This record gives sequence, C-alpha cells and structure tokens, in this order.
Amino acid sequence: MRVTVLVENTVGRTLPISGEHGLSLWVEYEGHKLLFDTGQRGAVVTNAALLGIDLRQAEAIVLSHGHYDHTGGLRRVCEYLGRSVPVYAHPEVFSAHRVSSPADKYVGFPLVREEIEDLGAVLNWVAEPLELYPGLWLSGEVPRRTAFEKGDPRMYVYRNGERVPDPLKDDSSIYIAAADGLVVLLGCAHAGLVNIIEHARTVTAVNKVTAVLGGTHLGPVDAVQLDASISFLEALDLSLLAANHCTGQRVAARLAAVFGERFRFAAAGEVLEI
Ligand SMILES: [Fe+2]
Ligand SMILES: [Fe+2]
Repeated sequence: MRVTVLVENTVGRTLPISGEHGLSLWVEYEGHKLLFDTGQRGAVVTNAALLGIDLRQAEAIVLSHGHYDHTGGLRRVCEYLGRSVPVYAHPEVFSAHRVSSPADKYVGFPLVREEIEDLGAVLNWVAEPLELYPGLWLSGEVPRRTAFEKGDPRMYVYRNGERVPDPLKDDSSIYIAAADGLVVLLGCAHAGLVNIIEHARTVTAVNKVTAVLGGTHLGPVDAVQLDASISFLEALDLSLLAANHCTGQRVAARLAAVFGERFRFAAAGEVLEI
C-alpha cells in the first residue's frame, strides 16, 4: 500500500505545492484509492495534480472529523470531481466544534450539508466500525478507555447554552490489516492515540502494529500523557511512525530521537510505501 501526503501544515519536497494547516492523505490499497480528509482551503486539488495523483480516481472520501482543517477542502474536491462520490463520516461531523485558544472561535465544518450534497457528496454515516474494503476499516466512534488521554482542554461545544468539553465523538481513523501487521491512519487523534490503536487491534483482530501515520495530537498534551503515549508506541515495535500535523515540531523532534530511522515527518509531498 502507498500513502501520499497531499496536504499538511508544511511542505517537504522541492515541488511548487502548498502547505495548509490541515491534513489530507491519498490512500492506495489493494487497487482501491481513497481520499482521507481534504485539508483546509482546497490546495489538495493542485497539490494532487503536482504530485501526479488523479483525484478523479477516488472511490470514496473519508472524513476523520469535522474540524475545518480536515473538511474545508471538500468543496473544491467535489467541484473538481464533478460527479457523485460517497463521503464517509461520523454522524456528529457537523457538530459545532469550537476552540478557546489562541482565539475563541468556531472550528467546525465550514460548509453546510446541503452545499456539499448539491456538489455530489453522498454522505454515509459511520458510527460503528465498517470494513469498507477487505482489510480496510473505518473506525467509527472510538471508545475512550485510557485514564491519561483526557482530550484537548481548549476544545469545547455549547450544550443547552452551557460551555462543555467537546467530546469529539466524530474523531475517526482508518485501520488497515496489511500483510506485515496493522497500519493506522490518524486524522487528528482527538480520541487519544492509545485508545485508537487499541481499538484498531480489537476491530481488526490483528495485534501487531507495523505503522502509524498522520496527526497524533501529541503536540498539545501534558507531560504525563506524552510520556505514557511514547512508552506505548515504543512497546509496539513499529516499522514506521510517520507523524505530522497536530504532532507539532517539539514532539516530532522527540519522536525522531526515540524512533530514529523508523520516524518520518510526513510533510506534504511525502510518499510512504508500506
Ligand atoms: Fe487537525
Ligand atoms: Fe482536529
């Protein structure tokens, strides 16, 4: 299988592609091609073309969660495809996600459902694990089991006029039971990196985890969670840890020190063969 980073906060290759705070991955697996997240503002379309990827071949679009930096490119993608396309997401993907810092603002889906449906998106709700193709699973809602993964305290929603922590139930990942073990593709890992990986093992019944790619959300977490998460990753015997996006530079540097050659910073333009 191959994963190409179409959009990330940074650009890692000498190509005229654009960085955007956000994430979009092109996933090729057993003849299937799908787009996992769409980035923030539509650079995904031109970046894909410059990377030699034909987005028109996408069989499906999977959204990891409703945050604007993963969903905002959907309009441009749908316009470019010019046809109907299945879009898989958790039923709470349109919930009114907000963040308190660095500025208090709405950070949810920047498009309304009717708009993307008019452009051809056919929404498929995924709350439970779904085997989209043989061996490739959409996580659905991830059970929160660890005590130390507490969620990002800056993220909140209004419920009955009250400000409450954002449960981000829509946070979803992709689990691939590949020949060498499990490959986990993260959007932003709001459900908790360890919760997600343990859920992937349960869902696929594959214990060996060979690769973890995408946004780990370890950048903003406290020292206790960071240490526990890194210890957990170290115990996995990973072949590849390709972190990016909400991992942040400070944590990425630490992961690079811990994992050595097995760590890759997956900036836009990176192609990961697994
Ligand atoms: Fe994100
Ligand atoms: Fe997010």
